[in-house]
Amino acid sequence: METKIDVLGISGSPRKGNTEILVKKALDICEADGLKTKIISLSDDIPMDEILDDMCDARAIIIGSPAYFANVPAKLKNLMDKTNILRQQGRKLKNKFGGAIAVGGHRNGGQEYVILAIHNFMLIHEMLVIGDKDTAHFGGIAVAKNLGDVLNDKDGLETTENLAKRIVEILKGVEI
Ligand SMILES: Cc1cc2nc3c(=O)[nH]c(=O)nc-3n(C[C@H](O)[C@H](O)[C@H](O)COP(=O)(O)O)c2cc1C
Repeated sequence: METKIDVLGISGSPRKGNTEILVKKALDICEADGLKTKIISLSDDIPMDEILDDMCDARAIIIGSPAYFANVPAKLKNLMDKTNILRQQGRKLKNKFGGAIAVGGHRNGGQEYVILAIHNFMLIHEMLVIGDKDTAHFGGIAVAKNLGDVLNDKDGLETTENLAKRIVEILKGVEI
């Protein structure tokens, strides 16, 4: 089946901040390798139906989220809950690749819990969860408080880039 989007990036932050910067970075890398990408920012009020349609149209989905009390913010949780209809209507996200990016204001601010929440969401949709190439952990993990801080976080940028590289590798066909 022809998909309209290779990689859909969803920034789950209610503001245009560090999460969106990282999701864009990941998509830029995919785009540079010839993949078709699209970004959705939950800071824009996009109708939920449109977001669900885009998720169904994508081969891979990257979800970026800030840590809010070591979890995803309500706006992103709301989207996740709305996607249950896709699961009920025949596992529409099944076998899509999925990756996660988490940004927290503190080094031990719960980014890994946020990643886990996103991965669990993907697994329950029967998606195929992938992590970051070479740095090989859970996806992009960054520390940033104020707007743009993430651009100074070397590890955050590197793990995000490596998540994108892994997605490119998989969508273009890995050698096994
Ligand atoms: C309501 C709220 C809760 C937060 N909780 C956490 C937290 O648990 N751990 C953490 O490291 N940072 C926490 N932060 C800081 C944000 O994760 C951090 O500022 C991040 O950059 C926000 O991403 P954004 O720039 O995309 O909005 C919180 C911020 C807000 C507004």
